[in-house]
Amino acid sequence: MKIDSSLAAVVTGGASGLGLATVKALRAGGVQVAIFDLNEETGEKAAAETGAVFCRCDVLSDDSVDEAFAKARAAHGQERALVCCAGGGNAIPTARRDKATGKINIFPSDKFEWVLRLNTVGTFRCITRAAAGMMTLEPIDGERGVLVNTASAAASEGQMGQAAYSAAKAGIVGMTLTIARDLSREGIRVNTIQPGIFATPAMKGAPQQMLDALGAMVPFPQRLGHADEYASLALEIIRNGYMNGETVRLDGAIRMQPR
Ligand SMILES: NC(=O)c1ccc[n+]([C@@H]2O[C@H](COP(=O)([O-])OP(=O)(O)OC[C@H]3O[C@@H](n4cnc5c(N)ncnc54)[C@H](O)[C@@H]3O)[C@@H](O)[C@H]2O)c1
Repeated sequence: MKIDSSLAAVVTGGASGLGLATVKALRAGGVQVAIFDLNEETGEKAAAETGAVFCRCDVLSDDSVDEAFAKARAAHGQERALVCCAGGGNAIPTARRDKATGKINIFPSDKFEWVLRLNTVGTFRCITRAAAGMMTLEPIDGERGVLVNTASAAASEGQMGQAAYSAAKAGIVGMTLTIARDLSREGIRVNTIQPGIFATPAMKGAPQQMLDALGAMVPFPQRLGHADEYASLALEIIRNGYMNGETVRLDGAIRMQPR
């Protein structure tokens, strides 16, 4: 698919981190971009800086996602590319004994479910809407659209406390080929990026010592990933018409340790 001003794209989680870097890279290629994000302040700011359109969107809600797609399409027409970056997690042990009191605490089910709803269901919710819209378009070079999802190294090697996040991201990896098969007759491709550890605002809370230690765990290059390296791969997936049904690790060869 050509990356130029004739293309309309939607980036969820586009107000920050990997999503924002993708918005910038698409805008540099002339693409008309809609940022879907929960955070209105950072979303409006990112839109003003990049020349994108901000659409407030909570990927947890059907109504909110439908409203965001309606606003994006009113501005740019039907999108042919969707990049899903909205996501996040929590860190809670499956069951843990409190060293001081001896009390045993479990991972609350509602907190587990929330991570699945945010990452797996939230991504799928956006995919269904985008795919349905793309199906109304005439194909260009046989192709109607392309979907890019974001999983995580945790889908393969979740660290301690990441049971929900690992399950949610493994769900995204697991549904990728199935969705590619479902949409194959319509000329819509879907692929997933599995990032290692990237320097984004999501990591900002961590102390520098910990970030340095994380970077040193990466075989090569020994550093955290840059968000524009994620964006570069997202754009290549959009561009490369033969890439479909695949999950690609982008992680400097890191394999996460238990903690
Ligand atoms: N940074 C990393 O090291 C890393 C590694 C692996 C995977 N990931 C994944 O990459 C994606 C982007 O991560 P990031 O590091 O850029 O995070 P980030 O926190 O910088 O950006 C995430 C964006 O998603 C938005 N968002 C959160 N909940 C939302 C909701 N319900 N509806 C709409 N938008 C919502 C936030 O407002 C934020 O702007 C996430 O799915 C994350 O799990 C990140």
